[in-house]
Amino acid sequence: MRYVEVHGTKLSVIGLGTWQFGSKEWNYGRGYEERESAAIVNQALDLGVNVIDTAEAYGWGRSERAVGRAIESRRDEVFIATKVFPVMPVEPVIRDRARRSASRLGVQSIDLYQIHWPNPVVPLSMTMRAMSSLQRSGLVKDVGVSNFSLTLWQQAERFLSGNVLSNQVRYNLLDRRIENDILPWTEETGHVVIAYSPLAQGLLSGRYSRDNIPGGLRAYTAAFQPQNLDRAKPVIESLKRIALEHGATPTQVALAWIISRPNVVVIPGASSVSQLRANVESSQLGLTDDNIRELNDVSSGYRSSSGLTGQFTRGVRAGQLLVSRTLDRYTRPIKSAW
Ligand SMILES: NC(=O)c1ccc[n+]([C@@H]2O[C@H](COP(=O)([O-])OP(=O)(O)OC[C@H]3O[C@@H](n4cnc5c(N)ncnc54)[C@H](OP(=O)(O)O)[C@@H]3O)[C@@H](O)[C@H]2O)c1
Repeated sequence: MRYVEVHGTKLSVIGLGTWQFGSKEWNYGRGYEERESAAIVNQALDLGVNVIDTAEAYGWGRSERAVGRAIESRRDEVFIATKVFPVMPVEPVIRDRARRSASRLGVQSIDLYQIHWPNPVVPLSMTMRAMSSLQRSGLVKDVGVSNFSLTLWQQAERFLSGNVLSNQVRYNLLDRRIENDILPWTEETGHVVIAYSPLAQGLLSGRYSRDNIPGGLRAYTAAFQPQNLDRAKPVIESLKRIALEHGATPTQVALAWIISRPNVVVIPGASSVSQLRANVESSQLGLTDDNIRELNDVSSGYRSSSGLTGQFTRGVRAGQLLVSRTLDRYTRPIKSAW
């Protein structure tokens, strides 16, 4: 395993994303949450992964609980990163939420506490004051942000009067927007990008097509719409060709392309232990300059199509899904009492 070292913190270039743990939107079922998730975390730690990323929002705390159970006897081996969902991100609320996250994770302190999304209403200065206070109290070691523009990230740092270690953002071969500003600044200043959805939610594995679209949330996301699956074909063809050259898989090449950038950590999710193992192996895969150039060129030609009609339909479907899940959650106790 390779590590990124910044400000005395050592992060494995391949981390583990755990949105999948206990989250119905991934459709992985109970067995996955109860058994597979612990096996995935333990195998990750055995292979030198230390970055485990979760969030209070994943499965309404179920992901944090599953991670907590898995790391119980191995706390010292983990750099635990979780996120606060920014509804009213002011001091008493954030303090309470951080305590609850730490308790679900079974830890005394959270290694990296990230603001999941910017809040457009509450001033960032108030949120960062709360984060600073959590750091002083020892409940939080490092502070991070997620889905922040570069300007907001820099503002967050000014308000904290300290280092905001990382920004967790979407980065993969089909979404390279951060290369315009965030990535150069990260490299120049010794911060870290934590790249989420590095496999475009599994699409870059090359397993999905118009005739084979995964269920759950992914059926509604832009990348898995039939016209976009067609547009991604040249990228996937390149991944397959380069994979063959190295005796690797397209997934491993897609991850190796990201971590060829300095100060970037990827946090792929995994639906099985074997996927996790394959993802970790990509840290050893040395792509050639020609490979990287080919992937840069082919991916710069990718444009996601999201016409207004498509966006509207997907928005409505996703809204329906969310409302029905929320209703289900709150009416379950009533139904079971009947
Ligand atoms: N901060 C944020 O707003 C934000 C947003 C999204 C995600 N995240 C974080 O980032 C993590 C990763 O992102 P993500 O889950 O959206 O997408 P991802 O990591 O790009 O895709 C994960 C999926 O890809 C497939 N996969 C993984 N390894 C594979 C392999 N070796 N071979 C073939 N397929 C493989 C699996 O799905 P199948 O096997 O079912 O195809 C897996 O569930 C999340 O778990 C979460 O921690 C953060």
